[in-house]
Amino acid sequence: MKIEASERLRGIGSYAFAEVDKKVEELKAKGITPIDFGVGDPSAPTPRLIRRAVAAGLERRKSSGYPSYIGELEFREAVAGWVERRYGLTVDPQKEISSTIGSKEAVFNFHEGIVDPGDIVLCPSPGYPPYTRGALFAEGVPYQVPIRKENGFLIDFSEIPEEVARKAKLMWLNYPNSPSGATADETFYREALDFAGKYDVIVASDEAYSEIYFGAAPISILNVQKEGVLVFNSLSKRSAMTGYRIGWVMGDPELVSVFRKVKTNIDSGTPSFIQDAAAAALSDEEHVEAFREEYRLKRDILCSALVAAGLEDCTPQAALYVWQKVPEGMSSLDFATLLLAEKIAIVTTPGNWISEPAAGGENAGEGYVRFALVPSIQDTRLAGERISALQL
Ligand SMILES: Cc1ncc(COP(=O)(O)O)c(C=O)c1O
Repeated sequence: MKIEASERLRGIGSYAFAEVDKKVEELKAKGITPIDFGVGDPSAPTPRLIRRAVAAGLERRKSSGYPSYIGELEFREAVAGWVERRYGLTVDPQKEISSTIGSKEAVFNFHEGIVDPGDIVLCPSPGYPPYTRGALFAEGVPYQVPIRKENGFLIDFSEIPEEVARKAKLMWLNYPNSPSGATADETFYREALDFAGKYDVIVASDEAYSEIYFGAAPISILNVQKEGVLVFNSLSKRSAMTGYRIGWVMGDPELVSVFRKVKTNIDSGTPSFIQDAAAAALSDEEHVEAFREEYRLKRDILCSALVAAGLEDCTPQAALYVWQKVPEGMSSLDFATLLLAEKIAIVTTPGNWISEPAAGGENAGEGYVRFALVPSIQDTRLAGERISALQL
């Protein structure tokens, strides 16, 4: 029997990480363990307080039972309490919050509830792949909006053609931004919301990195407006809980209700004992502060080494990455390959591999490499020594 994947699936290229993987394998075969800044998965252990809460939750919930799709009320109340403390905002746990199995699934699936065939979805580029992929699977049309250093990696709404804006149904924002580490202020959010209001566009704000910041705590778009807005957040990065698969959406009750309907049809709830652990995680800020300090230290070590090597200063304000401009005359892949040389052995992600070309062909990720600040402080120091010895 000839098995053929759907046209939709075939249309999606596989990630082009093979070349880097091959080089990494070659290094390993020579007995060299590269320092891996490739994938943004926190390597620190999930705090003990959270692990203990899972164990207690397992006992408390001896009978398995399907978990609540929208999240136990206790979990939703814990989210509402945290949002009140963190942003000074009131969100109603009954109508304005739903749990998610982490943001990825929620981001991807949300399109199913909003996008009709042919609707345009505005996606920042570079940007998190499920914005584009979710739009495509819902038979929408992703439109890539390049974000660039000269605009502080904020979207320039004047660049979006009128006919595109009129056909747009949904727009993704992502601040603190991955991969650039840029943050958005009230002025930017007002601009975004004015644009969305003018063209009747729903705003989906991915705030997954809201707690990894190095200056003042960034605001949420909900500090500016709730109507027509759905925020996606998760405990993956805040509390090093990527493996637990727990997050939430919050915002306009109509959008929360659409999300809940999609969710009950597509996936399931996060296990209740994980929801217990998430509530415990939200009750503690000490571990979050400690993570922030660790990321700050790693950021400073790496960025000063890059500057010492002669590269442009790209020190981020937030998030888990250093989005580094490559040396003049080199491509993203050239620089990532140079860093993989035997004596350096540092893995990064070439920027053009994590961004999609915009309408005019521009790939805003070209000319950058991404360092995810996930190796230990000791390995980051070692990487810093190797990088600062380079003369670029
Ligand atoms: C920009 C952005 N949004 C959302 C997520 C999703 O995280 P999770 O599904 O673990 O909540 C990630 C993960 O890397 C991300 O980089």
